[in-house]
Amino acid sequence: MVTPPQAEPAAGSIDDRVASAIAGHGITVMENFLPEDMIATLRAEARRLQAQGVFRPAGIGAGGDFRKREDIRGDEIHWIEADSAPAALRPPLLAFEELRLAVNRELQLGLFDFECHLARYAPGAGYQRHYDQLRDDGHRQLTVTLYLNENWREADGGLLRVYLEDGERTLEVMPEGGTLVAFLSARFAHEVLPCTRERFSLTGWFRRR
Ligand code: OGA
Ligand code: MN
Repeated sequence: MVTPPQAEPAAGSIDDRVASAIAGHGITVMENFLPEDMIATLRAEARRLQAQGVFRPAGIGAGGDFRKREDIRGDEIHWIEADSAPAALRPPLLAFEELRLAVNRELQLGLFDFECHLARYAPGAGYQRHYDQLRDDGHRQLTVTLYLNENWREADGGLLRVYLEDGERTLEVMPEGGTLVAFLSARFAHEVLPCTRERFSLTGWFRRR
C-alpha cells in the first residue's frame, strides 16, 4: 500500500502566518484559527451570558461623545475582563496573547495590551461603515474578530465587508465559527451587513500605550 504524500504544512505556526500576512497586506482572514470544540464551548458561553442578560446595546463614539445609534450600530456587547473571564474564554484569550507576541516579533508595533468583547447581532442588526481607531485615540492598533457561528450561509447575511485601500475593492468575510479576521485598525474601513439570523463574535483590539 502506498501512503499518499502528506500535504506540505504551511510554514510556521498559525500565529506566525497571521503575523506575516499582517506585515504584508495589513489584513488577513484565517479559517479554523481555533479548534471546533473550543468554538462550540465559546458559543455556548456566549448564549449563556446572553440568557443572563449581561449584553448591553453598543454605542458609538467615546467618553462624552458616546451615544446609542441603533441605525448605525445594532449589536449588543459584553466586555471580557482577562482576570475574571469565565473558563470558556481563557483558551481564546491565551491564543490572542500568543498572537500578540508573534505580531510583535514580526512587526514591532509595540502591542501592549488587549481589550475584547463578545458581540451579538440580533436578526436585522448591522454596523455601518466605520474605522475602529477612535478619533483622537491611536491606541487601537490591530483589530481581531473571531466568529462563533455554526453553518453560516449566504442567506443569513451578516457578512463583514472590508474596504480595501485602493478605495474600490472590498473583501467579504462569512462569520463562520473559527474564522479569524485581523487587520490594522487605522487602515481599513469596514461594515457588518445586516444579518437575518443571530450572529455572535468575539472582537478585540491590541493596543499600544
Ligand atoms: C466592530 C466590528 C466586525 C464583525 O465590532 O467594531 O466591526 O464582523 N465588528 O463583527
Ligand atoms: Mn469595527
